[in-house]
Amino acid sequence: MVIQSGLMTMAIDIRSAEGTDQAAIRKIVRGAGLYPFELDWQHFYVAAANKSIVGVGQIKSHRDGSKELASIAVIPEFQSKGVATGLIQALISTSEEDLYLLCQDDLEGFYQGFGFITAGRDDLPSPIARRQRWGNFFSSIAALFSRRPVRILAMRRVVTKSVPETSKPGASPACI
Ligand SMILES: CC(C)(COP(=O)(O)OP(=O)(O)OC[C@H]1O[C@@H](n2cnc3c(N)ncnc32)[C@H](O)[C@@H]1OP(=O)(O)O)[C@@H](O)C(=O)NCCC(=O)NCCS
Repeated sequence: MVIQSGLMTMAIDIRSAEGTDQAAIRKIVRGAGLYPFELDWQHFYVAAANKSIVGVGQIKSHRDGSKELASIAVIPEFQSKGVATGLIQALISTSEEDLYLLCQDDLEGFYQGFGFITAGRDDLPSPIARRQRWGNFFSSIAALFSRRPVRILAMRRVVTKSVPETSKPGASPACI
């Protein structure tokens, strides 16, 4: 993808991460104040500008098989240029399963743009529900020191799998 940076246009390469990206992934995720663990480069996509990493994101696999879009972060100088959008689209395109995410409530509209909808507790796999409870617990503590309390939302993106013509009721069998 190409972005506008000041008066210049700049190419951004969105690609799966490599081992040499591990330090940059940790630095960007921790610098953005996101959950600082489970940051194995093998699960990440990165956005690179002139070979330096400016944005990251991953799909985590939980023990129960559920998948979570997580650790989406872009360094401040490259924000609002479509970098996170490019990363999220690339990550989503690699996944054929339902995806979940946890985010602050102000990002609800942003993620709705990628087909995520806010999910109730009953719609969540237990690892996501547990993290949401912890997220809201820490947010309620942080709210004691900030003017605007933040709520952690869980969102879900459902993949609709197309049914092959031959398995639809009334379809004629392909071979007898
Ligand atoms: C959220 C974040 C990843 C967006 O990255 P980005 O590259 O700037 O995103 P894009 O350029 O693709 O899209 C920008 C749009 O996202 C939305 N957006 C970004 N941050 C937002 C926020 N805090 N509240 C509401 N909307 C927001 C806005 O619609 C914004 O459009 P605008 O720049 O015209 O206002 C980036 O701001 C970031 O790294 N934040 C810190 C880490 C974080 O909160 N990550 C999300 C974890 S769920």
